[in-house]
Amino acid sequence: MTTDLYCVMGHPVAHSRSPWIHARFAELTGQKLHYDKREIPLDHFERSVQAFIREGGLGCNVTVPFKFEAAKLATHTSERGLLAQAANVLTFKNGQILADNTDGIGLVDDIEHNAGLSLKGLRLLLIGAGGASAGVLGPLLQAGPAHVSVANRTLHKASELVARHLPLAAENNAELQAHTLHGFDRPFDVIINATASSLSGAAVPVAARALKPGALAYDMMYGPGAQGFMDWAQAHGALPRDGLGMLVEQAAEAFLIWRGVRPPSSQVLAELRAVIASGH
Ligand code: ATR
Repeated sequence: MTTDLYCVMGHPVAHSRSPWIHARFAELTGQKLHYDKREIPLDHFERSVQAFIREGGLGCNVTVPFKFEAAKLATHTSERGLLAQAANVLTFKNGQILADNTDGIGLVDDIEHNAGLSLKGLRLLLIGAGGASAGVLGPLLQAGPAHVSVANRTLHKASELVARHLPLAAENNAELQAHTLHGFDRPFDVIINATASSLSGAAVPVAARALKPGALAYDMMYGPGAQGFMDWAQAHGALPRDGLGMLVEQAAEAFLIWRGVRPPSSQVLAELRAVIASGH
């Protein structure tokens, strides 16, 4: 009997925790599968996907920088994938390529279930208007906040992202606005950093007046890339949180799509934090 085959494709992908996460999900749910990581040359994404399908691959996670290409390659795309215009999960079935985006639901699940904060009725600030923000804005609106501001260095990108999501915002009775990085006048309950500013060593992109006392300050990255933002949040009386839980929760949603079983993601997150803390 052959083993069901999955992988994560990205560039770079060497430090990806996804193989560990999916192996642990499989163990805990009694599923038999193999999941590995594949570093794909920048101009080889499509042919790498086709080669993986020929090998018998059943699905793959897609990470930076291929999420947009993955959405374009699909023969069918979920509603949340269409809104994000980017895909982090592909499923190969009957000659079709199905695309989905579980980043946003992963973020919302981590905030609501692991951090224990309901987003209903809150004021949210999403910083950045690139692929990372596009992947999460829809599910954030569906969580029922009172207000979401999207702030970006380049205003027109925030305006475009907001315009595309206005119908969803109205459906969920959420106010939705685009701003420059400093163009807001009231503080927020939750601020989410979806920019790559920490990675480049740049300063935190918004002023501390964005934070209500005790606000949740979430960086979608984890590890050293998130540290500057987390330290800043702590120093200004906010509750810092990195994106490790989002990583585990988006993986759990992918696992559910592929295997029809939801793995115990909170347990796996706690285990992964312990593995990382032990230096592995
Ligand atoms: P990703 O797919 O990771 O979101 P991206 O599409 O290149 O990557 O988007 C990067 C985001 O980080 C953008 O919102 C970018 O702002 P611009 O649209 O103005 O370029 C934001 N960003 C990157 N470096 C930044 C910095 N030093 N300060 C503020 N925002 C920054």
